[in-house]
Amino acid sequence: MLQGLTIKGTSVRVPIIQGGMGIGVSLSPLASAVAAEGGIGIVSSACLDRLLAKRNNKVYNTYDAVYEEVCLAREKGGVSGINVMVAIARDYDVTVRAAIDAKADVIISGGGLPLALPGIADPGDTALVPIVSSVRALQLICKKWERLGYRPDAVVLEGPLAGGHLGFRLEDLGLESNRLENLFPPVKDFASRHGDFPVIVAGGIYDHDDISRFMAMGADGVQMGTRFLATVESSATQAYKHAVVKAGPRDIVVASTPGSPCGMPFMVIKESPMFLSALGNRRRPRCDKGYIMTKDREGRYALCRAQENTGDCFCICNGLLSSGGYNPDAEEPLYTVGANGYRVDRISTVHDVMDELKGATPATQLVSPEAA
Ligand SMILES: Cc1cc2nc3c(=O)[nH]c(=O)nc-3n(C[C@H](O)[C@H](O)[C@H](O)COP(=O)(O)O)c2cc1C
Repeated sequence: MLQGLTIKGTSVRVPIIQGGMGIGVSLSPLASAVAAEGGIGIVSSACLDRLLAKRNNKVYNTYDAVYEEVCLAREKGGVSGINVMVAIARDYDVTVRAAIDAKADVIISGGGLPLALPGIADPGDTALVPIVSSVRALQLICKKWERLGYRPDAVVLEGPLAGGHLGFRLEDLGLESNRLENLFPPVKDFASRHGDFPVIVAGGIYDHDDISRFMAMGADGVQMGTRFLATVESSATQAYKHAVVKAGPRDIVVASTPGSPCGMPFMVIKESPMFLSALGNRRRPRCDKGYIMTKDREGRYALCRAQENTGDCFCICNGLLSSGGYNPDAEEPLYTVGANGYRVDRISTVHDVMDELKGATPATQLVSPEAA
């Protein structure tokens, strides 16, 4: 039996957080299904304005889209929240405000250091949880947050095997010291000495044994993305789910140059149509969406690097939106997955995945709806 997890006074019986997956992979159907199974379901906030506009055929601003999706995730009960990426800087503050107003149980924030998070709005009962990839990053966040009168309600420690963006330099990804097992002890030690907030580990955790192993080391819970990507309830396209099921170990690579306009290494399935085109220099789509903006000299959000420089980056937003079914006819899809994605061999329901992760069903007894 796995022990439950409590964050800011809210408890779940299964210590599994389903990691936020943008763009358009973890929306309310996935988050509420995980919450119903006793874990914590997380909506990704990335591009929700566009995704909801398409779903409901009306114009949305970011605030309304975030508010509505958080409410939908909460509708059937359980514990749920939202992932907000620092790199999507232009929409960051308004997304946090909307999530707090919608009474999200938790805001999990990474993809950069969420140094200003507690200063945006009074979080009330909403837990604020940064994602870090080192104890140094956690120390820095705690120092900044202390000045704002806040301490993290928990921390997610994400290692180099995770899906999406990685918080390491490309050349450091393979270092022994950066294995999750080795990153964990100093982070747990720091958290224990600063209020004993829960430490959640993420990146490459795949089965019940992995969860038990990290919990025996002292982790309070796990965050998992890849296991929930090819579920029935995930909003990835069928083509995306099948690409994950089909991928072998050599098919999952780190995109760097060309890569994400944020400059962070980004995990991809090599055969993703957009990545193949970018690698082969056939086509590196330019940004026309403007989510990953940097500020100009006057401090206005002005430019995404993929708007003008398609030499070392390409517009991942358009590719990921395509993989979430937003614009599949207009843009080639881009598939991101964690390093253990090659172990996914079927499309399962969240119920079956959670049963297996809890240790209730041996992995080999699960029947694939695909194989049936
Ligand atoms: C398809 C996909 C999209 C992701 N998108 C985000 C995101 O938008 N923001 C974020 O902080 N993490 C993102 N992640 C990371 C997950 O939230 C989670 O921490 C990570 O996947 C854990 O590693 P695992 O995939 O090995 O389980 C993404 C991961 C995947 C697989």
